[in-house]
Amino acid sequence: MPESKPLNERPPGPDSPVTLGIDPATLGVLTGLQRDYGDLVHVQKTSGRHALFINDPAIIRHILVRRHARYQKGPGFERVKMLLGNGLIVSDGDVWRRSRTMIQPAFKVQNVQQLLQAMINCSEQRARAWQAAAEAGKPINITQQTSDFALELILVCIFGADYEQKLLADGDNPFDFLSKDSTRDLSVVLKVRKLRARLLDIIAERRETRSDEFDFLSMYLKATDKQGNPFSDNELLDELMTLIVAGFETSANTLNWVWYLLAGNAAVEARLLEELHELLPHDQPPSAAHIDALPYTQQVIDETLRLYPPVWLFTRRAVEADELGEYGAVPGDDIYLSPYILHRSVRYWPDPERFDPGRFEQGKQERKERPYFPFSLGPRRCLGEYFSFLEMKVHLALLLPRFRMQRSSADSPGLEMGINLRSTNDILLQPQVR
Ligand code: HEM
Repeated sequence: MPESKPLNERPPGPDSPVTLGIDPATLGVLTGLQRDYGDLVHVQKTSGRHALFINDPAIIRHILVRRHARYQKGPGFERVKMLLGNGLIVSDGDVWRRSRTMIQPAFKVQNVQQLLQAMINCSEQRARAWQAAAEAGKPINITQQTSDFALELILVCIFGADYEQKLLADGDNPFDFLSKDSTRDLSVVLKVRKLRARLLDIIAERRETRSDEFDFLSMYLKATDKQGNPFSDNELLDELMTLIVAGFETSANTLNWVWYLLAGNAAVEARLLEELHELLPHDQPPSAAHIDALPYTQQVIDETLRLYPPVWLFTRRAVEADELGEYGAVPGDDIYLSPYILHRSVRYWPDPERFDPGRFEQGKQERKERPYFPFSLGPRRCLGEYFSFLEMKVHLALLLPRFRMQRSSADSPGLEMGINLRSTNDILLQPQVR
């Protein structure tokens, strides 16, 4: 048996310091590190911190699942914190545990299914705009369209009727900046401040009136911790902002890529269409049970998330020493894990660049053995997974049978590796009514 190394012995890596961020240059750096040093690499960052880049699926599982308590969220979240305060996605330790326990019940399948009608309405809203563009022979900006769809949907699901009646009442949409290009860097301090003040008003009004509406805000207002305490106004505000930010960009980006891929893959599109014609009712809107039972639609989204996982890079920071295979992590070490890199690794995925939803056919044993974690793993796994699948499948189920999309340009939209993976350029597609 090989002699085991002391816990604090870090794996091999380059001698000179390396710059790591959450940006396009980092993808190149990480790919080079793996090529040169293997699946477990140590680097000293230019900031002076030590970091480990990990590509071994078993060690990734160990960090995210078994030993998750030894790690907290890592670098790169500083700017997001400005928007989300101490909300679920950025908090750690006891604060995170308490919030997660309070919020998790809201995401139960039967609760999310009650939001189906909102998903249908928001899809119908898009259909109207696409119909007009198709009739005028004008392309649509699918990047903006999917962004508007997902943002509007999450806002309706959070605020119910208050979204239209109160938040949009003065004609100036206070959420607009979240989905507009020029403000994608999240550094819009004033707008964030104004929005937070507006949301505090809504929270106060809701506390007074205790409406019977079924939406995330009312579920969050009713939630209590183990001592029976509800969220304070500021905690609630952070959690609502978290839900908006976590809940719209990821689904929007995925749908953006789904439409782009379908427009370039006639055989996949035809098979998807066939499934929708066959399994959905023709004379009434689909139920959640119909939507849940669309295996090929699910595969198309799974495969899109393999190629374009919106959270393409996770970071953690070790708070305790940990054994990682034959090496170790030391408290303070930054950890980098990339679903994007593993999902495109030829070692696990044959012909990895090819869009092939067949890889995710039910019961395929190989699928289970391959590293695939677009929603993360373990206790910090995405809470909105079912919500996002339901929303994306409803969107496709209602819109694909009505519109055929054609790419307006042969140029690749490019990849922008930020906190979320997006297309560098907005994607234009020409809709045609079927
Ligand atoms: C395709 C869609 C989505 C993807 C790929 C996705 C992915 C992820 C990932 C990877 C994380 C964990 C990040 C990390 O550990 O660093 C996460 C966390 C989270 N997501 Fe999602 N997400 C999606 C949609 C949604 C939606 C629609 C919602 C809400 C309606 C949502 C709510 C959350 C929340 C609240 C967390 C924090 C969980 C915690 O830390 O306990 N997500 N998501």
